[in-house]
Amino acid sequence: MKHTFLLLLFSLFFSCKNNSIDQQKETEPVLGLITQKAMVVSARKEASAIGAAIMKKGGNAFDAMVATEMALAVAYPFAGSLGGGGFMVYRKADGETGALDYREKAPLAAYKDMYLDENGDPIPEKSQVGALAIGVPGTIAGIFAVHKRFGTLPIEEILSPVVDLANRGFAVTEKQRKRFENYKELFFEVNKDTILFAKNYKAGDTIKNIKLAATLKRIIKNGKEEFYTGETGKKLVEHIQSNGGIITLEDLSKYEAKWREPVRFNYKNLSVISMSPPSSGGVCLAQIMKMIEPYEISKYGHNQLKTIQVITEAERRAYADRSFYLGDPDFTKIPIDTLIGMPYLTDRMSDFNFEKATPSSEINCGMIPGYESDETTHYSIVDQFGNAISVTITLNGAYGSKLYAPEIGTFLNNEMDDFSAKPGVPNMFGLIGAQANAIAPEKRMLSSMTPTIVEKNDTFWMSVGTPGGSTIITSVLQTILNVEEFGMTMQEAVNAPRFHHQWLPDVVVFEPESFDPVLLDSLSQKGYKIDEETSKIIGKVDGILVLPNGTLEGGADKRGDDTAVGF
Ligand code: GLY
Repeated sequence: MKHTFLLLLFSLFFSCKNNSIDQQKETEPVLGLITQKAMVVSARKEASAIGAAIMKKGGNAFDAMVATEMALAVAYPFAGSLGGGGFMVYRKADGETGALDYREKAPLAAYKDMYLDENGDPIPEKSQVGALAIGVPGTIAGIFAVHKRFGTLPIEEILSPVVDLANRGFAVTEKQRKRFENYKELFFEVNKDTILFAKNYKAGDTIKNIKLAATLKRIIKNGKEEFYTGETGKKLVEHIQSNGGIITLEDLSKYEAKWREPVRFNYKNLSVISMSPPSSGGVCLAQIMKMIEPYEISKYGHNQLKTIQVITEAERRAYADRSFYLGDPDFTKIPIDTLIGMPYLTDRMSDFNFEKATPSSEINCGMIPGYESDETTHYSIVDQFGNAISVTITLNGAYGSKLYAPEIGTFLNNEMDDFSAKPGVPNMFGLIGAQANAIAPEKRMLSSMTPTIVEKNDTFWMSVGTPGGSTIITSVLQTILNVEEFGMTMQEAVNAPRFHHQWLPDVVVFEPESFDPVLLDSLSQKGYKIDEETSKIIGKVDGILVLPNGTLEGGADKRGDDTAVGF
């Protein structure tokens, strides 16, 4: 009897599911921009256009990277700057892959307890706002490392359009106006004065950054040294120190971007290449995808109960491992092969069943530093020669430390907050940080940024990434699965509603009003704690997909002002 009832339910479920798939198939696919040869997808139209124009002139994806990154510093000061850092994963036309780490690092004078009060408790503002929160910036070292190894056009030709953009100005969008408005008071507070971005802008107003144009001109003339030992570096250090910071000229002069081996793993017939430590992105993505691989999620359906369960349980286990094991590989030994190996991951999922949620309190190991801020940005580029890159950059918080260097024309990061301020002791969310990510001089802080390239049948297939702090990894994951498992276009995959779990706090965060209440209720009944309040959006994914006919489809996230431009 019980079996007959279950069978009936099962067939009802399947006919409903098939109906919805059929209905989906009847509607026209939503396609992003399609181009024949080359494309840039980034958070701003101006940056995508400048990157695409560089390629149109004959430059390659790496030349375009330099231009796009600097154009974001002009038009997207929320996360683009000269005062931050990032990661790039690349795949050249000949199949060579690699990764560049231009993550910020702790100054020489940094020490483990620098953000603790006399009772030994963390003072979050110290690591989040103002000059003491700044890590030694890596951005300029990053673009010059890329240019030196792979660039084909002279730096002047690449950066001149960016200088022009800074002089000519960019138009404020409505989303941008709101953000400037939200942070105006904090800009005044931190800078003890007004700054370029603290004025009362309307959407459509033009912002010119003449000081940034002049800085870029000096960088064109004097190269990377201008920022790390030259006039710009000296001005920067003076400004940081006069505001209570500890970065010295020695810190700047010692900064080096580092070429790293990316994390590579297979998921069915895909080969995924993603960022290695000091980002947790590639390792966590590998762990989650390998834990999901044995389950037939395409049969369960997109954002359906069993799919959400499997993904959530894999995420719970990967994030539990994240901060315990991961940190700067130059300071901490990381057992990457074990962590992403099938024996370990099979064992990790062995206590999962579909009947009920595994409470995070029962998952051992791993200690994570809570929700990270999400004010990062990502861009993907593919060129006409077949090179592909995936770059995620950050100031950490929105406009970083909020400290603006007016003479240079850029905000400075608050990346020091990505360290565990107090390893081994629960933070304000009841979370525990880890020794692997403790502060030490010249150490790079753990990141979640997950710039990723995917190959299918040994050829380049997708470049993808997103901002979103700890939700970066799970947003990249869902975007890849949306295309591979659920047959979406790149644009549909980027648009689709997202959810996120990170072990602690033990809640599944959903984008509000995007998921069926009946589905959420079913998850609750199985013991999952649902949160539709914390995050209005999860990630702002940008990606490029190679279609079967060889053309490129851009996916520019509708959640932001993101735009694909190409030819
Ligand atoms: N600051 C955000 C990240 O690196 O993940």
